[in-house]
Amino acid sequence: MKWVWLATALLLHCTEVRGTVGSRGGCQVQSSCVECVRMPGCAWCKQKDFLQSGEAAAQRCDTPEGLRRRNCSLENVMDPRPVRETVRDDEHRSGPGAVVQLRPQNLHLKLRVGVPQTFEVKFKRSEGYPIDLYYLMDFSYSMRDDLAKVKTLGRKILAALRNVTSTVRIGFGAFVDKPAMPFISTVESKLKHPCRDKKIPCQPSFSFKNVLPLTNDADEFERSVSQEKISSNLDNPESGLDAIMQATVCQKEIGWGKVTRILVYTSDDIFHTAGDGKLAGIYHPNDGQCHLNSEGIYDKSQLYDYPSVAHLSQVLSANNVQLIFAVTNAHLSRYKALSEALPLSVVGELKGDSSNVVQLISYAYGNLSSIILLEHLGAPPSLQVSYNSHCSDGVQTSGRRRGECSNVGINHQVNFTVTLTASVCLQRKETFVIKPQGSDEELHVTVETLCDCDCRDEEERSPYCSGNGTLSCGLCSCERGYEGQRCECPQEEYDDLVLTLDTSCRQANDTELCSGHGTCVCGQCVCQGHYTGDYCHCDPTSCSRYDNLICGGHGWCNCGVCDCDPEFTGVACQCSALTDQCLAEDGMVLCSGHGQCQCNQCHCDAGFYGEHCAKLTEPCQQYQACVECFSANELQEDGPEVCQDDCGSIRPTLIEEAQEMFCQTKHCLFQVEMDTRTGSILVSYTNQTTMNCPPWKCHRDMTLMVFLFTVSAVLLGGGTLVIIHRVNLKTSNKVMEEENKAQTPFWNSAMTKVSGSDLFLD
Ligand SMILES: *[C@@H]1O[C@H](CO)[C@@H](O)[C@H](O)[C@H]1NC(C)=O
Ligand SMILES: *[C@@H]1O[C@H](CO)[C@@H](O)[C@H](O)[C@H]1NC(C)=O
Ligand SMILES: *[C@@H]1O[C@H](CO)[C@@H](O)[C@H](O)[C@H]1NC(C)=O
Ligand SMILES: *[C@@H]1O[C@H](CO)[C@@H](O)[C@H](O)[C@H]1NC(C)=O
Ligand SMILES: *[C@@H]1O[C@H](CO)[C@@H](O)[C@H](O)[C@H]1NC(C)=O
Ligand SMILES: *[C@@H]1O[C@H](CO)[C@@H](O)[C@H](O)[C@H]1NC(C)=O
Ligand SMILES: *[C@@H]1O[C@H](CO)[C@@H](O)[C@H](O)[C@H]1NC(C)=O
Repeated sequence: MKWVWLATALLLHCTEVRGTVGSRGGCQVQSSCVECVRMPGCAWCKQKDFLQSGEAAAQRCDTPEGLRRRNCSLENVMDPRPVRETVRDDEHRSGPGAVVQLRPQNLHLKLRVGVPQTFEVKFKRSEGYPIDLYYLMDFSYSMRDDLAKVKTLGRKILAALRNVTSTVRIGFGAFVDKPAMPFISTVESKLKHPCRDKKIPCQPSFSFKNVLPLTNDADEFERSVSQEKISSNLDNPESGLDAIMQATVCQKEIGWGKVTRILVYTSDDIFHTAGDGKLAGIYHPNDGQCHLNSEGIYDKSQLYDYPSVAHLSQVLSANNVQLIFAVTNAHLSRYKALSEALPLSVVGELKGDSSNVVQLISYAYGNLSSIILLEHLGAPPSLQVSYNSHCSDGVQTSGRRRGECSNVGINHQVNFTVTLTASVCLQRKETFVIKPQGSDEELHVTVETLCDCDCRDEEERSPYCSGNGTLSCGLCSCERGYEGQRCECPQEEYDDLVLTLDTSCRQANDTELCSGHGTCVCGQCVCQGHYTGDYCHCDPTSCSRYDNLICGGHGWCNCGVCDCDPEFTGVACQCSALTDQCLAEDGMVLCSGHGQCQCNQCHCDAGFYGEHCAKLTEPCQQYQACVECFSANELQEDGPEVCQDDCGSIRPTLIEEAQEMFCQTKHCLFQVEMDTRTGSILVSYTNQTTMNCPPWKCHRDMTLMVFLFTVSAVLLGGGTLVIIHRVNLKTSNKVMEEENKAQTPFWNSAMTKVSGSDLFLD
């Protein structure tokens, strides 16, 4: 295990050191400054004389560190640095007048393509942010009891909200339904007085009516709402979405200011949506424009269909209008679903007679304004914007499409880290805004990409270019008739001269100039891309890989062949040249002399196994013939020669004393051992016959199995055994008695066997 760790550490270390090959490869295929700086992490050296003769222009593109290492002086490294300039960053301010919650307000960024840049956006929720509240009420017949209450409501709402901010204005609007069949009855008398009860005051139906533009005068609110009469329609759903649309887009008529804009929607029924207009023969989709006549009534309601929820959502967001739905219990779920689909909005339960509406508004306002959603609008598609949020309640999120914090109290600050990444060069400066939803405060972000080189070394007929070319970013572009790094080579017209120059660009019998990876200039190869060598025949990425690293990370790719570090070998330097792992602890020969040490690992010869090949696969079988031959012939002098075929160099020795021996032949017992220091094999035998040797004593494998079975049975199944033992007490006693008579107990023999010699046990 230790070895594996060491190897891993080495690999990591080497990857770091040799890592420059890869990244430089990415840079070194760019043969102009502009192409070079468009690659993330690449820089261009414009220094004159930076290149060796014959080096390609692309060698000027490298990592900034690579260029420094190659002695490009700092002032000559073209590596446009990302810039972040804060143009405007007013302090957070609260109180009446100019409130500042969002910082900064204007940023100017210059980005490198593919290199993320981050900046901080800080939002501090301020006290006393002015509020415009427009109260939108369902005027259908069932709401008649509520109308009386609402008249005095203006004063209460103003009082409640003035607790939160000193500047509050309030307005009032109403909705019933589009005055068209089948939403209303078109009977002449019903058109004028649609209410069921003929005695109560009633007004004709309308889709939306702006009763009172925003005002801070509570008396005016009471006066104008008092003059209003209830109305009625036929079907259950009302034209609520029409009303929300008009109240939102009619900025001038409603009088919305650049403040927190809240639309309170009260109703005791559901709403018509896009498509319902077809019932009345209305086919034009909603145009999202304001159409109020001089009386404040939406007079194009019979021309345009109800708006879709998506359309409404977009219009609300663009106009920073937040919605509070105050609806009766029966339809809460419908409105909750609607609220989900809209930007900042909440739903509260309205009592049957609207008595709790003030409390509801002040709670909902608190909830609404404690949610901060930071979004961007109008960012170019190639610009990726992501947000990390650090909220005041400790919640943190990262990599989101918008910044999001909830439970933000008054005077709490929340911070967002915004990350911008340009995937391609932008054609021109682009400006987009980042803003909290429902607020008119904006952060303007101007971005441009650093995709050009400002080398400031342009020189026509530069002496550096032999007076025959124009210098730019360290490169010569030669005039007609000249070529070479410094336009030093005249392009000869004569074929034979070109031929002689070409010969020195051609490798041995190659048909291609510069191996097809470069151009022959003045008799020298100028290599393209990452190719190197006199004939551009070397590809530093062509060497064998190991673990996906060129030369296994342990060598240098020298023209297609790995030059391995001293302690490594192999075509991809994948092998450690060390042999320590092939040697047993007390060993003197690699792999005990029975295998090859390759890549610091033993590959054992046939018949041997184990980490150091110190184990025999079938010792008894392998030496059986040898022992048999030897025991039959040992007394004769030529014994060893006779047994040459079976024994090879092995000389089994006879042991007089009877010992534990695990192998047997027809005539004797024997055992095979290995000296782990030298790897030599020692075979010894006795002249005892099998007659004295019970089977379990002689066959080692059998003994081991029986032993292991017994041990595990005792350990795991002890309890079971006890029970079985008791049940079979009589029987087993009998058996044991018989066994005792026959030989020594089975236990004893098994135990001594294993503890006596564990030659082949691992
Ligand atoms: C860089 O300059 C140093 C000192 O002048 C020199 O020893 C070294 O060989 C140079 N390296 C290269 C890559 O030219
Ligand atoms: C205003 O706030 C005070 C204390 O915070 C509270 O007692 C009072 O009832 C509030 N007024 C209204 C109209 O909600
Ligand atoms: C406001 O939030 C509280 C919990 O924070 C919730 O219980 C209450 O219903 C919410 N009120 C409205 C009108 O959304
Ligand atoms: C936001 O940043 C300010 C410092 O700029 C720090 O004092 C404040 O604790 C941060 N707030 C959060 C919620 O991280
Ligand atoms: C081009 O270079 C050659 C050789 O260096 C020089 O003799 C010649 O005057 C140069 N041409 C111009 C137009 O400068
Ligand atoms: C080049 O060609 C000659 C004869 O055609 C041959 O003997 C020689 O080995 C070739 N050299 C190489 C590098 O292929
Ligand atoms: C062989 O075994 C017998 C007893 O079984 C013993 O007397 C004799 O010495 C042994 N012979 C050799 C050569 O070990």
